[in-house]
Amino acid sequence: MKRRAVIAGNWKMYKGGALGVELAQKLVVACGDLATVDVVVAPPFTALAAVAHELQGSRIDLGAQNLHPAAEGAFTGEVSAPMLLESGVRWVIIGHSERRQLFGETDDSVRDKVRAALEHGLRPIVCLGETLAEREAGRTLEVVHRQFDAFAATLASKPGFGVVAYEPVWAIGTGKVASVEQAEEVHSALRARLANHGPEVAERTRILYGGSVKPDNAAALLDQPNIDGALVGGASLDAESFCRIVAAAPSAA
Ligand code: PGA
Repeated sequence: MKRRAVIAGNWKMYKGGALGVELAQKLVVACGDLATVDVVVAPPFTALAAVAHELQGSRIDLGAQNLHPAAEGAFTGEVSAPMLLESGVRWVIIGHSERRQLFGETDDSVRDKVRAALEHGLRPIVCLGETLAEREAGRTLEVVHRQFDAFAATLASKPGFGVVAYEPVWAIGTGKVASVEQAEEVHSALRARLANHGPEVAERTRILYGGSVKPDNAAALLDQPNIDGALVGGASLDAESFCRIVAAAPSAA
């Protein structure tokens, strides 16, 4: 049986204020009542509370794009899990390749953030993926396994609660989507790796694909047996295209 799909929109550093509110209003109208798919949007921190307000009464969940592992403290510029929860956030993206590449996030910091999210009841969307150079050197599985092993035991402590997102770095924001075969190969390898933590973890953990997912390519990707959803960047900034991706997800009860 197919796992319930998760379609998550990563707004990145776009739509942080009034434009975010407007997008949320359009999303609620266009795909705010779907009961068969988990729909999540992750606006910038500045728009979280306002977007939470717009999403009230809809089935769209609120996500954040990052968190600090501590609950509070002298960490200028950072935001903690309890603060996100208080703003209405239920999901959090962790270890996105932009954070790994541009902001020095490591496998260790990703694991610490996953632990903090789980401790406070936030659902982590933990990202991993290889660069073009790593893929061309034939190192894709080695790299994603290393990234995965850093947080897998932590994630497995609550089977099915958090999700993994495979995002080949060369496919993010480039328009170069991985072929369904390339994506499914990594997803099934990750599923096998999840089984090291028990059959329930392998069966219940949803693995999303991200990297240039658009309304036109979503259905073929989401049809794959081990692709359980999508993490969408560019196409999540437009309500119509995001909701078309949501509509492409197979329904589950
Ligand atoms: P993209 O971004 O859909 O614009 O490629 C995906 C992501 O970075 O999560």
